[in-house]
Amino acid sequence: MSNPNGIEGTFGALPTLAKLPAKISTAIGKPRMTPASLTSLKTLREEAADCRACDLWRDATQTVFGEGPQHAPAMLVGEQPGDKEDLAGQPFVGPAGEMLDRALKDAGIDRRKVYVTNAVKHFKFVWRGKIRLHQKPNTAEIRACRPWYERELQSIRPVLVVAMGATAAQSVFGRLTPIGKNRGRLIDLDDGIKALVTVHPSYLLRLPDAAAKAREYARFVDDLKIAAALLRKSARAA
Ligand code: URA
Repeated sequence: MSNPNGIEGTFGALPTLAKLPAKISTAIGKPRMTPASLTSLKTLREEAADCRACDLWRDATQTVFGEGPQHAPAMLVGEQPGDKEDLAGQPFVGPAGEMLDRALKDAGIDRRKVYVTNAVKHFKFVWRGKIRLHQKPNTAEIRACRPWYERELQSIRPVLVVAMGATAAQSVFGRLTPIGKNRGRLIDLDDGIKALVTVHPSYLLRLPDAAAKAREYARFVDDLKIAAALLRKSARAA
């Protein structure tokens, strides 16, 4: 299905939602999966715990699957778990999570009512002394993990997907999607689902000066307010 905003398609060889086979083999390198439309988040989480679709599982503590209600109206997608998330087994519980929580609150969104997940579900890092330093996932890793995002999407069927940062946007749209050019407007995905692109909360943490931090935080909240308005509208229509 096309969409009118010109962002469409998936990674070359990746199965789309409609084309996902009923059962993907458990052979090494393939995630174990059952039919998407029948699969609850609970089952998906259990299946993803054994995922070996790329090598990131080897050094990570565990798969960090998404978290939130089965019928959440919005799905927020980040990049990958960080150090704290890897240890806790929960997405966005570290410093980026605190930033996200604050911005959601300021935008009028209750985090407990949305589903929060990551494009890549294992922590990728290198050791620097005693510190595990975050490494950006590459395209192969994003592709390997994308079936989980697709399965979460199909299981929840939210009104809105919020892609936070470049890795999330690459996963959601199936191609490199510049944040600056696409942020802050609703974009049609398939099946009537909307997408919103914004920055990753970690970006705000990395900004060096207070003025830039305050300005960019306000822009982030403004983006999330677009999400909040859509969610209010869809709740009224339901
Ligand atoms: N950054 C992310 O993208 N996801 C998390 O869960 C934590 C930090």
